[in-house]
Amino acid sequence: MRRIDIFDTTLRDGEQSAGINLNTAEKLEIAKQLERFGATIIEAGFPASSPGDFEAVQRIANTVKNSTVTGLARAMKSDIETSWEALRGAEQPHLHVFLATSPIHMEYKLQKTPDQVVDIAVEAVKYARKFFPTVQWSAEDAFRSDWEFLVRIINQVIVAGATVINIPDTVGYATPKEYGALFKFLKENVTGIDKVKLSAHCHNDLGMAVANSIAAIENGAEQVEGTINGIGERAGNAALEEIAVALHIRKDFYGFETGINLQEIKRTSQLVSQLTGVVIQPNKAIVGKNAFAHESGIHQDGYLKNRQTYEIITPELIGDKTEPLALGKHSGRHAFKDRAITMGFELNDEKLNQAFAEFKKLADRKKEITEDDLFVLFTDQQIKYKDTPVYELKNVQVQYGTANIPTATVSAVEPSGEVITVAATGAGSVEAIFNTLEQLVTGEVHILDYRVTSIGKGRDALGEAVVNLSIDGEVSIGRDVAQDVLEASAKAYLNAINRHLMKTASPVRAAVVTESN
Ligand code: KIV
Ligand code: ZN
Repeated sequence: MRRIDIFDTTLRDGEQSAGINLNTAEKLEIAKQLERFGATIIEAGFPASSPGDFEAVQRIANTVKNSTVTGLARAMKSDIETSWEALRGAEQPHLHVFLATSPIHMEYKLQKTPDQVVDIAVEAVKYARKFFPTVQWSAEDAFRSDWEFLVRIINQVIVAGATVINIPDTVGYATPKEYGALFKFLKENVTGIDKVKLSAHCHNDLGMAVANSIAAIENGAEQVEGTINGIGERAGNAALEEIAVALHIRKDFYGFETGINLQEIKRTSQLVSQLTGVVIQPNKAIVGKNAFAHESGIHQDGYLKNRQTYEIITPELIGDKTEPLALGKHSGRHAFKDRAITMGFELNDEKLNQAFAEFKKLADRKKEITEDDLFVLFTDQQIKYKDTPVYELKNVQVQYGTANIPTATVSAVEPSGEVITVAATGAGSVEAIFNTLEQLVTGEVHILDYRVTSIGKGRDALGEAVVNLSIDGEVSIGRDVAQDVLEASAKAYLNAINRHLMKTASPVRAAVVTESN
């Protein structure tokens, strides 16, 4: 079977989605999970774009060992040098350098002639090869480029030392037949194409990213790029879990293998959703809540007689475990620690103790603790950053009655360590909480989206709230969980403020009442 390399760009192209703003600890957690998932290459970020991205790429490069770690660079010396500084500690340093090749991008964005673009690309690749043993060159907006021009520029970047050639459908305009034909054309016309790896990178604007990626593989691509849950700018990128499972389930037809650890799909998807705040649509293929639910009577009847009547993928295949946990409120710290290790978490003693305390609190209120609950609990500890300037919720109190004006009072620990108490009214309980917390922000706040879902099943399930805010025009997504949805909503709103704060380091709050902590 032909091997297809999986290039994951959740932390670069995926993180470019509006409102997603992961900190270094969160990116590192995702990268470690992508390593378990079996991604061949992890694109950890764009080192020259910000000090935060640089730091994250460097930490990931120094930590991840079983996947190649790469970073994105524009075709300029300073970007390549910065990327080298971030990536030099990696097991196999790899650079991804790109330059646009379509007429519209060259004329309006780059304001360069095609000849100039060829020269810049060649110089960038040559310079990158001075540092990096492997260099991927991407022709941004390749699909809308002139095919003969693509052949010319690719011929030259291969001579300059590129080891991987990526052909992105940057704006998601391609159809499978056309995208496949472009790969076939390049395979037949580029000199030395067999010495390099050809890669596909598809966006999902017309809903065809996965189909286009597979068409590219059928026509010679040996690497496919995408993100977990298909997150990314606009309509997102090709969803890697869909590609991996499609190639697995239909290996009879395609005959390709990816080396992806399918058992890690569910957990990888959950982690990315949890940390980015991007909720997975219920009917999303492979990882949606309803992907394995059989509703209609006829389907249920057939399924009960023989699962295969209506089920082509089992939840077990993607690591969606259904067995109950043997952990409850009487479990000891030892069993809890074992469970953390089995689930792949490496928490230090302090974090483990904290997680155990949270677990005990939850077990007091919830009859059955599920693996999903534990996953959220462990992840929250794992990503807790000690020295970041954040607000922490201390207390939230809401007065609500059908005949009263809802009023919320919130106490939060400020980044300085002081406790601030604020209060406000609203048309409903949630609005009262949000109006209260808005007083912590100096800028103009708009609520773009707000959702509450349950984690797992049952009336005592944890509630997860996601709040999408715009603060002075900057979008910030916050997310958190609690057993009470009002508490989860308050924590999610604070989380959005915290993320904004970390990004902009902007001054916050007009204090109302301050007391000593
Ligand atoms: O979509 C695209 O063209 C990209 C490049 C930077 C590879 O993401
Ligand atoms: Zn892209």
